[in-house]
Amino acid sequence: MAVSTTKVVVISIFLILGMVLAGVLMQPEASFQAWDIKESDFPVNDSAKEKLSFLLNYAILAPSSHNSQPWKFNVTNDSILVFADKTRQLTVADADQRELYISLGCALENLIVAADHFGYNSSVVYFPGEKDLAAKVVLQPAVNSSGDPRLFSAILSRQTNRNPYEPREISEADLETIKGLSSDADVSVFITRDSGIKKSFQDLVMQANAIQYSDVNFKSELGHWLGQGVMGPTGVRAKMAQLAVVFLDVGPQQSKKDADLINSTLYLGFISTANNDSISSVKAGMVLERFWLAATALGISLHPMSQALETTQTKAEIAELLPAKPGMMQVQQAFRLGYGKEEVVHSTRRPLQEVLITQ
Ligand SMILES: Cc1cc2nc3c(=O)[nH]c(=O)nc-3n(C[C@H](O)[C@H](O)[C@H](O)COP(=O)(O)O)c2cc1C
Repeated sequence: MAVSTTKVVVISIFLILGMVLAGVLMQPEASFQAWDIKESDFPVNDSAKEKLSFLLNYAILAPSSHNSQPWKFNVTNDSILVFADKTRQLTVADADQRELYISLGCALENLIVAADHFGYNSSVVYFPGEKDLAAKVVLQPAVNSSGDPRLFSAILSRQTNRNPYEPREISEADLETIKGLSSDADVSVFITRDSGIKKSFQDLVMQANAIQYSDVNFKSELGHWLGQGVMGPTGVRAKMAQLAVVFLDVGPQQSKKDADLINSTLYLGFISTANNDSISSVKAGMVLERFWLAATALGISLHPMSQALETTQTKAEIAELLPAKPGMMQVQQAFRLGYGKEEVVHSTRRPLQEVLITQ
């Protein structure tokens, strides 16, 4: 028996609506509540462990690739263990786990800035040996707080601004302040206005987009995270964004958007390290986050652009774009920097309880 076209269309619409509804109902708990944390909520009269746990409210506001939040924490009376949650790795876009460890570095940096602010001296041991343990942070109450209040306040206002940026110069003084607050001997930050580098970077982003958006696995992974409602749209709109990425050819549209964004931006930034290993990525993440907080404190926006570092074909060429800096040839992260034209809203976070390891 032949099935009419109308029936096929009606059944398809019901199937799609069913998928969207099921997806929305199954969206994990994530909310904007994490951003409501108040300094005055610090549990002054509670145990040492409760106080350290409180600091993690700031760690989880860190940026992470696809907002994957690939972290877990174990708190004791005088230390916090920061673990990689490998179940949240972007296995296609971030096969070498570079972005996973950069994201952990960002969370680690927020933790240290918050610890400084609430009067703790912190010392970090990187990769002490236990499986997936990226860092052990030992925290001791300090006599004097050495924290920079500008960085601490910026934790709550920092966000990824993916809008076009104004063609407005950043003063040399502000650039120096940002660089000064985020300098680290093991990590190089290169900020450029060079039009040749910008054009070549744009070409590499276009090339990477073409490769990624013709890969069903990449589209499915990106769709999965979009559908969770963690990267911009939430609820039904998140599911619609997922369906669009997975089933439509959105690559050319994305490339046009990225080209416009790069063209709107006066400054590009590149973070590099000497080695291509996990500890270097964690340290690059710490510098990225410190740089981002310092920029935020001055009203300057930042937008990481990772595409060209995510495909082997384009990754090698990024290092070629930058002036040779002996010993610092591993590009870890690229970003746009400037004054955002429009305000953006925060993205959601998982509740702290979900990322605490409790025995
Ligand atoms: C290592 C890393 C790579 C990122 N790459 C991109 C990217 O390529 N494109 C993008 O739009 N955002 C990128 N982001 C930003 C994240 O998507 C963003 O941090 C996350 O969605 C949380 O949003 P928020 O930064 O506004 O809190 C990246 C962030 C990190 C830490």
